[in-house]
Amino acid sequence: MSKICVIGTGYVGLVTGACFADLGNEVTCLDVDQSRIERLKQGIMPIYEPGLEQLVAQNVRAGRLAFTTDYRQALDGAEFAFIAVGTPSGVDGEADLQYVRMAAEAIADIAKGHIIIVNKSTVPVGTGDWVTDIIRKRRNGTRPLLHFSVVSNPEFLREGSAINDFMYPDRVVLGSTDRQAASKVAELYVTLRCPILITDLRTAEMIKYASNAFLATRISFINEIANICEELGADVQEVALGMGYDKRIGPAFLDAGLGWGGSCFPKDVKALAHMAVLHGTQPQLLQAVMEINRNQRRRVVYKLRKALNSLDEKVIGILGLSFKPNTDDIREAPAIDLIHLLQNEGAIIKAYDPQAMENARQVLKRVKLCETPYEVAQDADALVLATEWNEFKQLDFERIYQLMRQPIIMDGRNLWNPEPLRSIGFTYFGVGRGTNNHILNNNQP
Ligand code: NAD
Ligand code: UGA
Repeated sequence: MSKICVIGTGYVGLVTGACFADLGNEVTCLDVDQSRIERLKQGIMPIYEPGLEQLVAQNVRAGRLAFTTDYRQALDGAEFAFIAVGTPSGVDGEADLQYVRMAAEAIADIAKGHIIIVNKSTVPVGTGDWVTDIIRKRRNGTRPLLHFSVVSNPEFLREGSAINDFMYPDRVVLGSTDRQAASKVAELYVTLRCPILITDLRTAEMIKYASNAFLATRISFINEIANICEELGADVQEVALGMGYDKRIGPAFLDAGLGWGGSCFPKDVKALAHMAVLHGTQPQLLQAVMEINRNQRRRVVYKLRKALNSLDEKVIGILGLSFKPNTDDIREAPAIDLIHLLQNEGAIIKAYDPQAMENARQVLKRVKLCETPYEVAQDADALVLATEWNEFKQLDFERIYQLMRQPIIMDGRNLWNPEPLRSIGFTYFGVGRGTNNHILNNNQP
């Protein structure tokens, strides 16, 4: 059993804290957001993440998990301080490290004795050394002495399956100049029975960016293939299937659609490209990966404009607002980008999401938020599926056909089988499902 402080109670911090507590450790989660901590103390989750509420409640009841805004209380006797604060995009695409700096300064001012500082936030290569410097300078010569090491422990969990990803990781990466400190952090994970890779600090930090950039690249790759499929009459889902059986390629992250969004891929690919340029290299592939992603949203607008002649005053219904299913997170969600693009052309937007309505209400202007998918369909000129929630898999399409003003469906996640929809009378567009265009192009190869 170890005593752990987790700084930041967002998607990563809260999941990390709850999971480490569940593994038998004594965990205090700290946040500077007072109302978030107050709500957590009452058992109210600040985010929607399947299974989290129950896991938190269980461990609070067992006395292994507590919440505070007080650094003194959180760091008292802590052997490990995990930093899990946000690192959003700065003005030039760089990672904004202001929250990491604040956390490091608070540790420098308050920690006592021996502590291992474990950085879980996604941070530019070199940040571990920078954190070490901050603490050393701030603490320089002051008593009592602080013995500390910094370990980079990038997080690979996905929203929507965060607890499972934490408990059954493909690997744990630990980077440090102090191998003994890295080994102590490794002991926290040993029960998870996964490969544990110990590297130097900078390598661990780079593994995180390279992993996210590679996954984003796979998605942009398959989206580019999808666009070519559309023109040539091939079906990208079967192409992905056929590619994925090759063990060197694998089947995951080959779903074509509206492109990647979320709080991480967009900011991390941008930050990696920014780091590259700053250090004199040309990240041409990363630039293309981002450009393909932007265009994926624009293509939908183009298809809708073409199908409806103009988007001005047309009612477009959007199903799904979160950046992926099983989360309420709308940061950089494709649906939000799409809504802005459609509104720019005069479209009237109605939308529904099973979990993200509260978050959406705060950022979306002039959007009619509906209670059900059917309310969205009512009098719509087109319906766009932006997030593939389970709830949207089995809709009553006969009813939707009756409700819509024009029966046009843009399936941005290739969720539905086109044939039954076409036989009801819908005009169906997917992503990379080329049959329509092929026929339009007179079967020319
Ligand atoms: P988040 O925005 O959901 O939460 C961050 C939390 O940190 C907020 O509650 C905020 O109030 C708190 N905070 C900010 N400054 C603080 C300070 N000085 N002291 C204490 N608390 C402070 O962020 P997130 O999505 O959990 O991401 C955190 C980090 O983990 C980011 O670097 C992100 O790139 C990385 N990451 C995120 C995911 C994910 O799925 N969201 C996955 C892997 C890695
Ligand atoms: C992603 C990574 O998968 C995690 O390993 C990483 O820890 C995390 O970012 C992070 O650093 O924050 P997450 O953003 O939660 O996790 O969700 P993903 O499942 O990766 O999906 C990201 C985006 O890609 C979503 O918009 C999703 O719809 C899209 N996507 C995903 C596709 O368009 N096609 C796919 O085949 C897979």
